[in-house]
Amino acid sequence: MEKETKKKVTIKPKKETKKKVTIKPKKETKKKETIKSKKEIKKKIVKKPIVEIKNLVKNYKKVTALDDFNLEIKEGEILGLLGPNGSGKTTCINCLLSLITFDKGMIKIFDKEMSPEAYDIKSKIGVIFQDVAVFNELTVLENIDYFCGLYISDHKLRKQYVEEAVKFVGLEEFLKFRPKQLSGGLLRRLNIACGIAHKPSLIFFDEPTVGVDPQSRNKILEGIKELNKKGATILYTTHYMEEVEQLCDRIVIIDKGKEIANGSKQELKEKIKIGEKVTIEVLEINPEQYKKISKIKNILDIEQIGNTINIVFKNGNHNLDTLIDLLKAEDIKYERFFSERPTLNDVFLEMTGKELRD
Ligand SMILES: Nc1ncnc2c1ncn2[C@@H]1O[C@H](COP(=O)(O)OP(=O)(O)O)[C@@H](O)[C@H]1O
Ligand SMILES: [Mg+2]
Repeated sequence: MEKETKKKVTIKPKKETKKKVTIKPKKETKKKETIKSKKEIKKKIVKKPIVEIKNLVKNYKKVTALDDFNLEIKEGEILGLLGPNGSGKTTCINCLLSLITFDKGMIKIFDKEMSPEAYDIKSKIGVIFQDVAVFNELTVLENIDYFCGLYISDHKLRKQYVEEAVKFVGLEEFLKFRPKQLSGGLLRRLNIACGIAHKPSLIFFDEPTVGVDPQSRNKILEGIKELNKKGATILYTTHYMEEVEQLCDRIVIIDKGKEIANGSKQELKEKIKIGEKVTIEVLEINPEQYKKISKIKNILDIEQIGNTINIVFKNGNHNLDTLIDLLKAEDIKYERFFSERPTLNDVFLEMTGKELRD
């Protein structure tokens, strides 16, 4: 009898403990989650500007490269500066770094006025120049070590940072190569490693993917996202709209040294008239039917090239439904039908009257 009682006693507490153990963590995790998300929300609200450019004017003799230009980059964001060749992107970066003087305006970085002697600010900035800037006499490893050494004097720490940078850009197998022995894409990756090895919290990328193969291009873009996830604030300049769409939280479009638009890609696209562009490849269509289509509400532009009909709609709720209903009612057979949202090129086109890439 005694033995049996003992058994019962030992079993009960085990069950209770198990229950407690499973209940407690659940409650705790929930609490932590809600606290975290509140913190995250707060972080998003109090994002402060790390870079402030106000009313910047830069003239090169007769050319006005920046014309009353304003820019703000908030902590933790990837800001895309999108503009065609010659619009002033590199000039903007050179002004930010105090590499060139400017005629009017003000630049603040980390809440301090930028100047050529502001080494405390410069030490927190990484820059990847449009024209690859490395030493041809040095190997891949020596180049990265040299640039990192400009900021990090501790030998052990520098070694670690250099190794991390090599790994980050995937140049492990090319350490002893000289820049001239590298392909265009690998050279760009070396250029990036040299710019980020000292772990800057603010990084300027000036068209880092020009002339780069698709594989290196993807690696570069993924790498930038990773740097941003680790906390770096990024300014990314390019004339490729696809890149800013893929990468950037906010986009500033620049033309002839002036800001022409500013917002998320969604916001920018909502600023223009175009809602969607539809292409239909019909098997057959008569002029009467084409006329009926062209009278559909919200059409901004329509053209027929052979069997292809291109339609540009302005924003509207039932554009596609109306079009499909009409095709059915008229028994117009088609092989292909596709619809595209407007691109940033459409935004640029509507605001400046010219193509982003000319
Ligand atoms: N050192 C310079 N001397 C004279 N004009 C320049 C110089 N650098 C740039 N420019 C001119 O300033 C304008 C902006 O150039 P840039 O900033 O290089 O544009 P982006 O980087 O967008 O291609 C262009 O018209 C360019 O020709
Ligand atoms: Mg440039």
